[in-house]
Amino acid sequence: MEQFLNDVIKDLSGQPKRLNSKYFYDEAGSRLFQQIMNCEEYYPTDCELEIFKHKTSELATVIKDGFDDFDLIELGAGDATKSSYLLKELVDTNVNFTYRPIDISGSMIDQLEKELPGKIPGLRIKGLCGDYFDMLDLANQLSDKKKVILFMGGNIGNFEVETAAAFCVNLRRYLNPGDLVLIGFDLRKHPRVIRAAYNDKEGLTEAFNLNLFHRINRELGGDFVVDQFEHYPSYDPGTGACRSYLISLKDQVVHIGEQEFIFKTDEYIAMEISQKYSMAETEEMALKTGYLPIQHFTDQKNWFLDTVWKVV
Ligand code: AVJ
Repeated sequence: MEQFLNDVIKDLSGQPKRLNSKYFYDEAGSRLFQQIMNCEEYYPTDCELEIFKHKTSELATVIKDGFDDFDLIELGAGDATKSSYLLKELVDTNVNFTYRPIDISGSMIDQLEKELPGKIPGLRIKGLCGDYFDMLDLANQLSDKKKVILFMGGNIGNFEVETAAAFCVNLRRYLNPGDLVLIGFDLRKHPRVIRAAYNDKEGLTEAFNLNLFHRINRELGGDFVVDQFEHYPSYDPGTGACRSYLISLKDQVVHIGEQEFIFKTDEYIAMEISQKYSMAETEEMALKTGYLPIQHFTDQKNWFLDTVWKVV
């Protein structure tokens, strides 16, 4: 809450203005993201689901990696729909491991702990609720077993490329040589496909972006007039950056608590980046941040990559 307010004020005081897409996910925002995942144009979830459904045993083989017991830690587990396929395969083949989902949402973790063992009998699960790195710290205190980290969904795309590299370096500090990470990257592809995924006809993506204004109004005492802004999605095939902006449709002043923010007509707020990578770019990222890429898993169309790296 404090952090949310501080970030919003700092980000709207800068030039150009921006907001952090990690704040998209309040209750309404999470529901909108669910709807986006189910819409016609948004492909990443379907592609990654295909990988987990159809390459399950190959994934399980590379992940167990000859170890007899390990911690399988998922960053931002959500409802674990995709990872469930892997969990089930590991349990069914008598692999020894503890599943440790990390999520910022406590209710999500509660639900996983309650429901997953029913769906996957024999699963050892111990959820952790909080920030990724705080919880990784805790996980290290709880156990010194070999670790396998899952960071799926293309969430790494919400970082600028340099920030994503810094994230990988940071993550590596919580790991030991031989540990594994599996990261989901959305791959470069025809720009038309990417643009459509972030500009769906139903207007879900626009609502997803504008919802942050509703959240600021409600939680931080803001007075954004939401329909005086318009969603502008963009994709640059040169850099692979897919960015969304909200454009001010008039000269206007927005208050948040005591603070005042002036918007000029056509001024933008940079809202979200969903960076797309080539396979080579992900390998480069691994090598320069302390990992060795060991296996790539893609869907049939080659639109999405789950890549497994070993800590060196
Ligand atoms: C949840 C971060 C993977 O960037 O593709 C979906 C969020 N934004 N539509 C993505 C999102 C717009 C999504 N991630």
